[in-house]
Amino acid sequence: MINRLGLPIIINFKTYHNVEYNVNLARALEDVAKQEQVAIGIAVPATEIEFIKENTDLAVFSEHIDYYLPGAHTGSILPEDIKYYGAQGTLLNHSERKLTLEAIEKAIKRCKGLGLKTVVCAANVEEAKAIDVLNPDIIAIEPPELIGGDISVSKAKPEIIQEAVKNIKNDIIVGAGVKDSNDVYNAFRLGAKGVLLASGITQAENPKKVLMELIQGYKKFINENP
Ligand code: G3P
Repeated sequence: MINRLGLPIIINFKTYHNVEYNVNLARALEDVAKQEQVAIGIAVPATEIEFIKENTDLAVFSEHIDYYLPGAHTGSILPEDIKYYGAQGTLLNHSERKLTLEAIEKAIKRCKGLGLKTVVCAANVEEAKAIDVLNPDIIAIEPPELIGGDISVSKAKPEIIQEAVKNIKNDIIVGAGVKDSNDVYNAFRLGAKGVLLASGITQAENPKKVLMELIQGYKKFINENP
């Protein structure tokens, strides 16, 4: 298995589009994933999980949850709700939704208690080391300055991936600027167990074509490392 979740590519929809666009995007990505026989995951706004799950079989993650127990916490996202809607787990601590280490710890515990998986983001290896102690399912390393750009982490900062792989015991995936099959191939070659990306797919004119291309980078690595 490529990582603990069996998902070599996870696509974060962020809030680039509305639910109507996103459900069609999810269906299109699912077509490619089925055709290529590669499992992919998507992270979507909590409000869209139910509808997207009704329309696809993809592994769906929330982009965030709060650690609160049911109670008076207006506007918060209960992990119980994302589970009820069919999410497999959640992203936590994305650069655009940072949490304290204490909040990450509480959120991971809440998710574990409910059987939800956690993909916890870290901006650098130091942060990843602190998160590693909390034993999430996956740590996603994304240098914030590369997010949304066209230069991938595996091109701009290959040493971060290598250092993380050496120092982190839980599975590492990497993200930021991932745009083509070479970025995916190089991330795996440097020791990552998956990639997390957003704009390469959400902003693409032809997301199916882009996903097909990204999957080829993963397949090339798998063929060379059976
Ligand atoms: O969560 C993925 C993300 O932050 C990376 O974004 O647009 O650089 O692929 P992007």
